[in-house]
Amino acid sequence: MEAALLAVAQGRSYLEIETDAVITVELVRGLHRSWLERLYDFAGEIRTIDLIKDTVRFAPITYMERSLSELDKVLADQTPCEGMDIDQLAGAIARVHAELVLVHPFREGNGRLSRWVADIMALQAGFPPLEWGFDWDPEERRGRYFAALRRGFAMDFSSLENLVREALTAAVRLAEDPIAES
Ligand SMILES: Nc1ncnc2c1ncn2[C@@H]1O[C@H](COP(=O)(O)OP(=O)(O)O)[C@@H](O)[C@H]1O
Ligand SMILES: [Mg+2]
Repeated sequence: MEAALLAVAQGRSYLEIETDAVITVELVRGLHRSWLERLYDFAGEIRTIDLIKDTVRFAPITYMERSLSELDKVLADQTPCEGMDIDQLAGAIARVHAELVLVHPFREGNGRLSRWVADIMALQAGFPPLEWGFDWDPEERRGRYFAALRRGFAMDFSSLENLVREALTAAVRLAEDPIAES
């Protein structure tokens, strides 16, 4: 159900969000709400409990207001992505992705939501949605993705930027020749 609703909400957002629109926390909350409002009360609502996954402690709720305004600043610095080349775009997506996942604004769905925001940024710059490759080598890809994210949480965005550049390149190749790439 979550996957089906996500596909519909993504499709709608791709039609609605302009290539020159600044992405804001309010817009991100609207995305989360539009995706999950038929399933969960917390759709679009900022979480009210602290969250830890594996060894990662996401932004503590005590400082959530400050974290959200920092996230808004990062979004305002890095979007809109219209006119960016692949290197600028990879830099912008990596920066936003690390911040959004670290803040983890919602009770659930932060990973998918953050990759959705990355797709919106890619579309703004004229690229297809990212191809992270989780489908064809889940273990290896997820491991690299998590490791790159953790470096991003520590403000070193280089691995995540490389990963995003690869995901954009793979997406372009797939769009140009879906049969050769499948
Ligand atoms: N150990 C980890 N290291 C780095 N990032 C992590 C780790 N565990 C989870 N994450 C991040 O959090 C996301 C999962 O958060 P969650 O709110 O459950 O989103 P979803 O429900 O969409 O999977 C992952 O996709 C990843 O971006
Ligand atoms: Mg989850």
